[in-house]
Amino acid sequence: MMRIDILTLFPEMFQSVLVPGIFERAIERGLVSVNTHNIRDYTHDKHHVVDDYAYGGGAGMILKPRPIFEAVESIKADIYKEEDRYGELPVILLTPQGRPFSQQIAVELSRYAGMILICGRYEGVDERVRQHLVTDEISIGDYVLSGGELAAMVVIDAVVRLLPGVLGSEDSAQDDSHATGLLEYPQYTRPAEYRGWAVPEVLLSGNHAGVARWRREQAVRRTLERRPELLDKVALSSEERELVDRLKNLSLGSAIK
Ligand code: ADE
Repeated sequence: MMRIDILTLFPEMFQSVLVPGIFERAIERGLVSVNTHNIRDYTHDKHHVVDDYAYGGGAGMILKPRPIFEAVESIKADIYKEEDRYGELPVILLTPQGRPFSQQIAVELSRYAGMILICGRYEGVDERVRQHLVTDEISIGDYVLSGGELAAMVVIDAVVRLLPGVLGSEDSAQDDSHATGLLEYPQYTRPAEYRGWAVPEVLLSGNHAGVARWRREQAVRRTLERRPELLDKVALSSEERELVDRLKNLSLGSAIK
């Protein structure tokens, strides 16, 4: 069971991902538990103040360190009282300044027994949270959201679907785009011909080796066309390298670089 704890000022935003879909199955099967914690509940003053002006001036409010530190410490005390199988858990701040999220990071996170996600809001989070509390910072892309909540949901979705038993069949995540380092090959279902557009012959042939070869070639082609930089990182057979070189030469002077 993976235990996910989320610190946020808007716990109700997470209701939407905890209703039907893969999470529901994962939660019902006891494969994951998701707990949201309102940062405001960890304040001590009458008005439950979570933010304050920036030292040195500037527009926008900064999340104060104390409620965040105390929330994480209280969650950790609760986790380790329960069981010590959790080991060191990652404490992740969602921020546009974090390391770019990827399938590889999702795989890495899926190996932990739990994770604590901190969703920032407003103009930022007191730097001492980054320096002395957080073990990792993740960005889901080079654009700015109003808070870390949607980013946390993205990370949770990508991680939970990798947990054993969450997807219908154990290997259905293996061919996903990016799982192999390549984009996924084209997929077809019935009918074999639709509006005159036929499914590639080889897929109907029952020739498993032929299908596998076609798919791998399509994945290479598609990656070369759409995300050529991914090919620098992936291990290709010598045949596939030759295919890449051949396709690159063919397209010299055309749109594919
Ligand atoms: N918070 C605001 N923008 C974000 C982003 N791009 N990734 C992660 N957290 C964020």
